[in-house]
Amino acid sequence: MNQDLMIRLFRSIEGNKEDDVVKVATLIIEDEKKRGHDKLADKLKMILEKNISVNQTFRNELRKILPNGIIIPTNKRNNFPLAITVERDELRHEMVLPLDIEEKIRRIEKEYAAKERLAHHGLKYRQKILIYGASGCGKSMSAERIAWNLGLPFLKVRFDVIISSFLGETASNLTKLFDSIKNYPCVLLFDEFDIVAKTRLNSQDVGEMHRVVNMLLTLLEEYNSQGILIATTNIENSLDQALFRRFDDIIEIPKPSLEEIIRLTKMTLESIEKSKNIDWSSLFKQMLGFSAALVVKIANDAAKFAVISNDRILEQYHIENSLNENLLYAK
Ligand SMILES: Nc1ncnc2c1ncn2[C@@H]1O[C@H](COP(=O)(O)OP(=O)(O)OP(=O)(O)O)[C@@H](O)[C@H]1O
Ligand SMILES: [Mg+2]
Repeated sequence: MNQDLMIRLFRSIEGNKEDDVVKVATLIIEDEKKRGHDKLADKLKMILEKNISVNQTFRNELRKILPNGIIIPTNKRNNFPLAITVERDELRHEMVLPLDIEEKIRRIEKEYAAKERLAHHGLKYRQKILIYGASGCGKSMSAERIAWNLGLPFLKVRFDVIISSFLGETASNLTKLFDSIKNYPCVLLFDEFDIVAKTRLNSQDVGEMHRVVNMLLTLLEEYNSQGILIATTNIENSLDQALFRRFDDIIEIPKPSLEEIIRLTKMTLESIEKSKNIDWSSLFKQMLGFSAALVVKIANDAAKFAVISNDRILEQYHIENSLNENLLYAK
């Protein structure tokens, strides 16, 4: 067979090691090797391995999650799905938020729950949400929590797969993805949205990125699916103002206040026995300005110190050690 045809054929092979088609492909590779076509054999082997290892995980994933026959589209280059799902029991949802932010998020959930009633009056629930704020304050987690509370499937857009070096393909991937979930109620998360939505004023974002941002503007404008679209970013300044306007709600999650630091620590250390001699207030004060993620990490690390210590009780020095160790993450 012509080498180019053979390569094309191999690129289209899907499956896992046990599938007949993969077994036959392996035999062909061996045969080519015996004939002295080492270069071709190596190339075919590389294509086959790539197709059956990485792709397979994602393919199974997407078949599993869309029971109503909707298939998440894949990219042209290596057939990876443009979005992945997170199973319900893996969704993070126990959050500590300032009251006003908690209320804003609840409002999104309440409007979704009442979407039929709203529609009856010609009103539309908050559907396109932008969440921004410093790293580790719960932006991605908020999206998961909304899906969890509403019992909606959770889909996370894979920018690494969507963004293509081929002209026009990024925009067409985005369109394909939006089309595919038009009738599929879910929370669609565009995590770290700025990757694709960099301002059009940025001198580096010429050509293709302009097209992509324009396409995104149109898609957001027309987005009218059954679910909720959530985009997150931690650099709101670099987002195109035109994109900002397309969202129904924009929420900034701040770093935790003293009160939230206390709640985060309590929540994380709930199951740990604590010494009565801990000077909590001085410890909490030292964590002011830290992200929620860092507060949780400090408490978790301290809990681990306590659990592996002899008397298994959390002491002041466990938290102090953990705090000092984690200081390098605090900015
Ligand atoms: N508000 C919060 N309440 C409880 N835990 C939180 C909160 N925010 C962050 N965490 C903890 O920090 C971890 C990281 O949170 P998350 O991934 O949502 O951060 P993020 O804001 O999306 O950060 P990044 O900008 O780096 O993506 C969570 O898994 C959780 O343990
Ligand atoms: Mg995040």
